[in-house]
Amino acid sequence: MITITKATIQDLKVVHEIETMCFKDGSYPLFVLRQLFDISEDYFLIAKEGDEVLGYVLGNLSANTNQAWILSVGVRPAARGKQIGKKLTEELIGLLENNHCKEICLTVHPKNASALHIYKKLGFVVFSASDNYYLDNDERLLMKKKTEVSAQ
Ligand SMILES: CC(C)(COP(=O)(O)OP(=O)(O)OC[C@H]1O[C@@H](n2cnc3c(N)ncnc32)[C@H](O)[C@@H]1OP(=O)(O)O)[C@@H](O)C(=O)NCCC(=O)NCCS
Repeated sequence: MITITKATIQDLKVVHEIETMCFKDGSYPLFVLRQLFDISEDYFLIAKEGDEVLGYVLGNLSANTNQAWILSVGVRPAARGKQIGKKLTEELIGLLENNHCKEICLTVHPKNASALHIYKKLGFVVFSASDNYYLDNDERLLMKKKTEVSAQ
C-alpha cells in the first residue's frame, strides 16, 4: 500500500536521489532541499511503499498573499503510472487549502505530457508561456489554480 506522509530530515537524501533521477542537471542540490525543508516543512510530502520512498512533492505558501507554489514533484521512474504523482499533488493541494491558500502556481515544460495531464486534471490552467523562464533558453508554462478558498 502506498502512503503519503510528511518528509523528515532523514528522507532528504533519498528525495535528492529521486530529484536527480527526475531533473538531472536541473535538480535541486541536497543543501537547497535541506533549506527548503526548513522553510516549508509542512508542505514537503513523500509517498512510501513499505520503507521505500517512491516520490515526493514540495510546495510553499506565502502567508501574506495566500499564494502557493508547487516547487517540485518527482516519482521514481520504476514507480510511475501508478497515480503517485497525482496523489502527492492532490494531498499537497488539500493541505494548502486547509491553510487558506487562494491560488497555487507552478511551472512545467510544455512537452512534459504526464505532468501537464495531472495538473490539468487537478484544475490548473495555463496562465502564460515563456521561452526562457529559468534563464536556460528553454520553454516553460506558468500554470495557476484558484482554490476552493478563493471562491468563498
Ligand atoms: C510527472 C510525474 C511526477 C508523474 O508521476 P506519476 O506517478 O507517473 O503520475 P500519475 O501516475 O499520477 O499520473 C500520470 C498521468 O499522466 C498520464 N500520462 C502519462 N503519460 C502521458 C502522455 N505521454 N501523455 C498524456 N498523458 C500521459 C497517465 O495516463 C496518468 O493519467 P491518468 O491518471 O488520467 O491515467 C513523473 O512522471 C515524474 O516524476 N516525472 C519527472 C519529474 C517531473 O517532470 N516532474 C514534474 C515537473 S513540472
